Amino acid sequence: MKKEFIVNPWEVKGEVDYNKLVREFGVEIISNDLLGRIEKITGKNHMLSRKIFFAHRDLSWALNEYEKGNKFFLYTGRGPSGKMHLGHLMPLIFTKWLQDSFDVDLWLQFTDDEKFLFRNKSYEEIQNQMKEDFLDVIALGFNHKKTHFLIDTKNASLIYPEAIKVAKKLTYSMVKSSFGLDESANVGQIFYTSMQAVPAFLPSVIKGKEIPCLIPHAVDQDPHFRLTRDILPKLGHYKPASIQCTFLPPLTGTAGKMSSSEGQAIYTTDSPKEVEHKIKKYAFSGGRDTLEEHRKYGGNPDIDVSYQYLKYLFEPDDAKLQKIHRQYKSGEMTSGELKQITIDKINTFLKEHQKKRDKAKKEVENFLYAG
Ligand code: TYM
Repeated sequence: MKKEFIVNPWEVKGEVDYNKLVREFGVEIISNDLLGRIEKITGKNHMLSRKIFFAHRDLSWALNEYEKGNKFFLYTGRGPSGKMHLGHLMPLIFTKWLQDSFDVDLWLQFTDDEKFLFRNKSYEEIQNQMKEDFLDVIALGFNHKKTHFLIDTKNASLIYPEAIKVAKKLTYSMVKSSFGLDESANVGQIFYTSMQAVPAFLPSVIKGKEIPCLIPHAVDQDPHFRLTRDILPKLGHYKPASIQCTFLPPLTGTAGKMSSSEGQAIYTTDSPKEVEHKIKKYAFSGGRDTLEEHRKYGGNPDIDVSYQYLKYLFEPDDAKLQKIHRQYKSGEMTSGELKQITIDKINTFLKEHQKKRDKAKKEVENFLYAG
């Protein structure tokens, strides 16, 4: 029996039982048939074939519409609070792949209001963090002609009139039961889901015709979109479809998620030395206590955080990953060797990312939605 766990947009704790979560949230597992259908259009992606993106809502419908020539747009987002880490990059990297594969527009919401309302941070701190976040997103290579940044407080004249339409249909009791907010919640928190709902239909409002929407995100954001899907038909809009991933684990082990608030993360701005230090010192190992035991009994890749980082992000080649799995499990590869592979891979990625991040400073204007 797995222990209790918590998953909601503000907190992820414990060893997540994803099968149980799927039942609780009412999302669907991506079946092998559906996977095959996507791969037929896009080719293979390790995050799909390894079931890292594992669940969805109405994905078949979005594909049906796409095949009929009614292309969906993508919508995802980022709440600027702490520094961005590898966990945040994961759905964004996947979103970039979706954008390229389907050749569709992407709307990216920066919820500076959300983080102000939910975190103990000043408005100014959040604005500064958001500027840093722009650089991380742009560095991933999104096409600026097809990518539009929406900032809740800056694009308020566009978002707010639509948000109040959502808010009028959303009762306090719906919000309370979805998020477990209580009487001590501030009124902004109660209103907030109305803001996160808007980009799911804003492009339809702008274009004056209904356009399907597909939202890639980690499963913690699903409660917002469950409510969004309840409300949007009442406003004459399509329900948004979604594709949802599991969590990149924190350094400390496979429980919870990599999160900036807990100091268990590898940040996009970490230096090679910092990455080396964090992996060597903190990355939970599935290796045995002594080398002798390790050689004899082998390691456990399923609970080994370094191995998980390779699986999630840094070793997309299945044959190479399987080889590492085999060698580690048999004891032929030590924990130190596995850690070194992971350190090298992360540092190679971050070196490029940080270069692109620097260049991105000149490109921000091209991404901000000015309509
Ligand atoms: P935020 O900034 O907390 O997270 C941004 C995205 O990263 C996902 N995420 C993770 N994915 C995998 N492993 C992890 N360890 C991990 N930690 C975070 C989140 O699920 C999210 O997809 N309220 C949102 C901002 C938002 C949004 C959206 C997100 C607004 N509209 C539409 C997704 C889709 C937030 O605070 O995300």
